[in-house]
Amino acid sequence: MDAKTNTKTAQLTIGDKNWSLPVYPGTIGPDVIDIGKLYSQTGMFTYDPGFTSTGSCESKITFIDGDEGVLLYRGYPIEQLAEHGDFLETCYLLLYGELPTAAQKADFDYRVTRHTMVHEQMMRFFQGFRRDAHPMAVMVASVGALSAFYHDSTDISDPHQRMVASMRMIAKLPTISAMAFKYSIGQPFVYPKNDLDYASNFLRMCFAVPCEEYKVNPVLSTAMDRIFILHADHEQNASTSTVRLAGSSGANPFACIAAGIACLWGPAHGGANEAALKMLTEIGKPERIPEFVARAKDPNDSFRLMGFGHRVYKHYDPRAKIMQRTCHEVLKEMNIKDDLLDVAVELERIALHDEYFIEKKLYPNVDYYSGITLRAMGFPTTMFTVLFALARTVGWIAQWKEMIEDPHQKIGRPRQLYTGATRRDYMPITRRK
Ligand code: CMC
Repeated sequence: MDAKTNTKTAQLTIGDKNWSLPVYPGTIGPDVIDIGKLYSQTGMFTYDPGFTSTGSCESKITFIDGDEGVLLYRGYPIEQLAEHGDFLETCYLLLYGELPTAAQKADFDYRVTRHTMVHEQMMRFFQGFRRDAHPMAVMVASVGALSAFYHDSTDISDPHQRMVASMRMIAKLPTISAMAFKYSIGQPFVYPKNDLDYASNFLRMCFAVPCEEYKVNPVLSTAMDRIFILHADHEQNASTSTVRLAGSSGANPFACIAAGIACLWGPAHGGANEAALKMLTEIGKPERIPEFVARAKDPNDSFRLMGFGHRVYKHYDPRAKIMQRTCHEVLKEMNIKDDLLDVAVELERIALHDEYFIEKKLYPNVDYYSGITLRAMGFPTTMFTVLFALARTVGWIAQWKEMIEDPHQKIGRPRQLYTGATRRDYMPITRRK
């Protein structure tokens, strides 16, 4: 990391005392106030539940301007990467900071391809899960278990082992995700086929069966690849922060990514596409939309429009626009007339013209159209978050590597505002009332 230089300071006044705090500029985006010495100087902590105003690290990977609806990976707009690039090129970019040359790309693709198989013993490990286990439960467990199968790449102080672990995870996540899917529907696992591209290989492992020839539909594999690009990274979101926090203690990379997957599972994060599709199904027909919009606006009703709103985007999520186009392409290719798409389009139109949503800056996020798209591709809802985890793995790894390689890295340890009981003495159980 570069040494930070401050050209400005922020003045803090508490009572009759003043402190001067360094302010650092980013290359783009808001400046940050360095409060690292605040406690030693003032005896106070900052208070920011949900970290809405807290920069937890310095990073060169992903930039989001939520007000303008901008998402850049290493400076490149998401729209350009999704339109012209492919997922493995995006992986290279996130990991190494630059787009690869043709030779670097060929070498990277080859190295990823060499790691696509999982240890045969993993097959037996899978047999221990209940046959109807949720694929996300299987993902958390089996990615964590990679550290038991691949001991030779868990020493985080060795750059070579870090690289091998990274390649293994990028390469094996599609295999493990497809295995989680196959296991949940009682079909045999399909081994990777390395002459296929990343997305096609994944689709084949999910949908091929031994008794039939499977031909990958190029429209679907392009859509899959684009969905992976859209989800590859999103700076310091909840799961990425979880990966960084787990990694800050020196935990091995497989364990850290498993922690990220666990965090992603929640409905406010990666589970939102599943929740959005459930909501659209519940709405069912355009005539019922006003009822649900009224519920979303009612302060006494906990119902929210799933797939709407974002902590960072206070404008249209740029990924949602690409996802919407991809959704139309997939449905057209599959010749599917999905009533839920009509509901989604109409709900979006109504919400975007409604005072409540305008005032609160609530726009569709990436998850709004991804559920309909993935369902049309043949995935059950239980797989939606798995696909998100598969794609996000590269972002987690890039962020984890950046943190490990930062000489100023420390174990993450937030503080708190304590409002519990003050000191009191232990009372023997016989004397308690
Ligand atoms: N429907 C109705 N009202 C909403 C919604 C929504 N989807 N989202 C936020 N609001 C309201 C909320 O009730 C609050 O109102 P008030 O100020 O009157 O209390 C206000 O908007 C601000 O909400 P917040 O919860 O303080 O905002 P946040 O930045 O903490 O939450 C969010 C962001 C994504 C958790 C939230 O918008 C939400 O729950 N959305 C639905 C779930 C969803 O689609 N999540 C996917 C996020 S994108 C994928 C990812 O990055 O993982």
